[in-house]
Amino acid sequence: MPDNSTLPSRKADHIRINLDKDVRSGLTNGLENYHFVHRALPEMDLADVDKTVKIFGKTLQAPIIISSMTGGTPEAAVINQQLATAAQAAGVAMGVGSQRAGIEHTELAYTFQVRQYAPTILLFSNLGAVQLNYSYTVDQCQRAVEMIESDALILHLNALQEALQPEGDTHFDGLLDKIEKVCRALPVPVVAKEVGWGISAEDARRLSEVGVAAIDVAGAGGTSWSQVEMYRMEEESLARVAAAFRDWGIPTAESILAVRKAAPGVAVFASGGLRDGIDIAKCIALGASLGGMASPFLKAAARSAEDVMTAVREITRELQVCMFAAGARTIEDLQRTQLTIRFDR
Ligand SMILES: Cc1cc2nc3c(=O)[nH]c(=O)nc-3n(C[C@H](O)[C@H](O)[C@H](O)COP(=O)(O)O)c2cc1C
Repeated sequence: MPDNSTLPSRKADHIRINLDKDVRSGLTNGLENYHFVHRALPEMDLADVDKTVKIFGKTLQAPIIISSMTGGTPEAAVINQQLATAAQAAGVAMGVGSQRAGIEHTELAYTFQVRQYAPTILLFSNLGAVQLNYSYTVDQCQRAVEMIESDALILHLNALQEALQPEGDTHFDGLLDKIEKVCRALPVPVVAKEVGWGISAEDARRLSEVGVAAIDVAGAGGTSWSQVEMYRMEEESLARVAAAFRDWGIPTAESILAVRKAAPGVAVFASGGLRDGIDIAKCIALGASLGGMASPFLKAAARSAEDVMTAVREITRELQVCMFAAGARTIEDLQRTQLTIRFDR
């Protein structure tokens, strides 16, 4: 087992840096090149728009996920509680951050446990896939699911982030076979997720072959973990190495299209730089079933639970108005809606 004694302080650093610094990727998410055709005659009432969607057996009031972020510290427990309360009120999905801290320090499990605030939401567990090369097995995956009574497990793929950390877990060799074992043995669906650099066609094909139920592209264009790690570095030389990766990754729009084509049998979740309901609608029109955001919800949660609720309400309303103005009555209609492409900005 690698040394994990710095884990809680690293998590606290991550939250602080994400709140205080500009950690945006040098790339855009690519969605600015895609546009809905405006319908002056939508032939429906705004109130007819049906944003509900069913995923992994649960009905969501809107195709939105509060992306995996945190846990492991008392501050993170409060953030998770606020996010969960808002997710429950709005009927949207939520993921907690990597539960490694809760598995290796059981006294910290409470910082991830949000079911009491969100009894019916679609809730995702989270672990770093690479931990399967550092003594984790199906057992720890099962414990992560039981710890928070989640509906599915996200295995995040953060190879570049680990490579930039001096203490990073970089043994990414032979991981696919282990992901397959987890997919076969776990009684809940497994989702493979990047953390902000996107999933390529080739990786999507391999992941779908080993049985993941969904892929969250977490593409480039939003939070950049090389930027976050850059701000964490005490050594200037390591900070410069991290800074070199500011423009790295597959933009979210490009990754959705690649994954959709390469892995037609798996659901696509979209995240990475999404900032409003129109971005989510565009992702769905490009082939995703859900749109996720991390940083905007973290900033709202740092202010108050009420601000998280307001953020979710605004995004949901933007999605509804967007569907109306694009003539899409349901999420299925939205999935069939053609976007126009203009690379003019
Ligand atoms: C503070 C913070 C912590 C995060 N921790 C995790 C994590 O533990 N597991 C994970 O899969 N993704 C994690 N992410 C990545 C997000 O889920 C998301 O993929 C990424 O930030 C891109 O979304 P954004 O541009 O909306 O922030 C974290 C993001 C933030 C901002």
